[in-house]
Amino acid sequence: MSSTFDPVPSEAAVRAVSVEVVEAPQGDATVLGILVDKSGDVPAGVGLSRESLKRAGFSGNTGQTLTLPRQDGSTVIAVGVGEPEKVDAAAVRDAAGALARAASHDAAVAVAIGEETSGLDAALVGQAIVEGAVLGRYRYEELRSSSEVTALTAVTIVAASELHEALRTGADRGRSLARATSVARDLSNAPGSLLTAPAFGDLATRIASETGLGIEVLDKAALEELGCGGLLGVNRGSADEPRMIKVSYRPEGATAHLGLVGKGIMYDSGGISLKPSNSSHQQMKMDMTGAGAVLAAMSVMAELGVPVNVTGYLACTDNMPSSHAQKLGDVAVTRSGRTIEVLNTDAEGRLVMVDAIALAVEDEVDAVVDIATLTGACLMALGPLSAGVFANDDGILAQVKAAAETSDESVWHLPLDRRYRKLLDSEIADVKNIGGDSGGAITAALFLAEWAGETPWAHLDIAGPMRWESTEGYRPKGASGFGARLLVELAQGFTKP
Ligand code: BES
Ligand code: MN
Ligand code: ZN
Repeated sequence: MSSTFDPVPSEAAVRAVSVEVVEAPQGDATVLGILVDKSGDVPAGVGLSRESLKRAGFSGNTGQTLTLPRQDGSTVIAVGVGEPEKVDAAAVRDAAGALARAASHDAAVAVAIGEETSGLDAALVGQAIVEGAVLGRYRYEELRSSSEVTALTAVTIVAASELHEALRTGADRGRSLARATSVARDLSNAPGSLLTAPAFGDLATRIASETGLGIEVLDKAALEELGCGGLLGVNRGSADEPRMIKVSYRPEGATAHLGLVGKGIMYDSGGISLKPSNSSHQQMKMDMTGAGAVLAAMSVMAELGVPVNVTGYLACTDNMPSSHAQKLGDVAVTRSGRTIEVLNTDAEGRLVMVDAIALAVEDEVDAVVDIATLTGACLMALGPLSAGVFANDDGILAQVKAAAETSDESVWHLPLDRRYRKLLDSEIADVKNIGGDSGGAITAALFLAEWAGETPWAHLDIAGPMRWESTEGYRPKGASGFGARLLVELAQGFTKP
């Protein structure tokens, strides 16, 4: 570990990964991965029949690998991509991730593609290979005193020459998207005492200036001026100031405008409603995963030529108990004027989110998409593999679902069922910040919906997929960076709903 903490070591590391497309493996590439599906001819480079592969226990399931050392010192790794008729970009991404881990002692990895991917758009294949290799190999080493991990520095794609142009275009795009997800993972992994809201504001300022974004960091005085009582209320127990970080991307000629809102709870102790320190709460430094995904996504929009205006609103503070902290029964007056009776200080995400949503609505964006590690209930309902998505508009919902499909960051539509709205009625304010004993992800979404009003809005509850519980494909166990690639894909195809 170096003496100064770098909150985003992947920024430079992924930029430095070299990406090449060639016709035949070069002499210095010691590891060559070859994609193999579950039936039909085995690519000649593997040098083994289907029968021999089967006898060695290799069936070609997606992400399965079989390492075959060669006499000349090189290594071939057979990598499964599943059923031939079902090979899609997600399978290729998972295969590349598994390959990069199987070759974990090599800095350079080559992947040969042939028949098994011939039905797919070559640009998507190139993108998936680079995303998979970089993300499958991701490790967070910033805080170790010494690291034995070999970093990935080169990805080579071996393919027929007529595919090269498309593969290269896709591979470059894949490197940008992989950087976004890696940066989002870094931000989630950074401990709460190192990445505070003011530190996040400074970092966002640096990233914005390096990646062609506008930035405005609202400090506590500015938030008081604006009347952002939701964010300020949560911040009351903290030794550190809050920040509302407004990031803007304005490409020339764009007309449509997408607003992205991220929950940035740098650490969620629960506040006065203190959480127990059991294992699920040891991860609460990751309660800023939504804000991290928005910043990381926006940091690659200029280089990817995203064609629409995007403004990100990151609502940042930690949630701490202290003698100054918000108390049960306190009432927060939010930016829109709506008031909230706070009956559980651990339902803090929605308090900070509504001030950010209000600012986005004031800026007259065409749609707001928010992303938040909002409820344990959503994690219970869907598990870690999918985010819950809620929406007040079918158009924006369809766009989010399409982006989830492309990025393989899966979402599941949950109902914004107005019949539960009365559970949020307060005896003394416009609304209270907790609902009933069940349906917690829905009542949290209904709460946010009030601030979105008539603006087309979708809400991603990523409490489940903020981290992967086991290593699979391009998803190593730990902070997932979920949402960064989904948001880039969303912005890339965004149209006014
Ligand atoms: N950050 C948590 C939600 C969470 C839980 C995210 C587990 C990831 C993993 C959120 O602030 C929270 O504490 N929600 C409460 C709401 C409740 C008090 C209404 C919850 O889900 O228990
Ligand atoms: Mn909480
Ligand atoms: Zn939280």
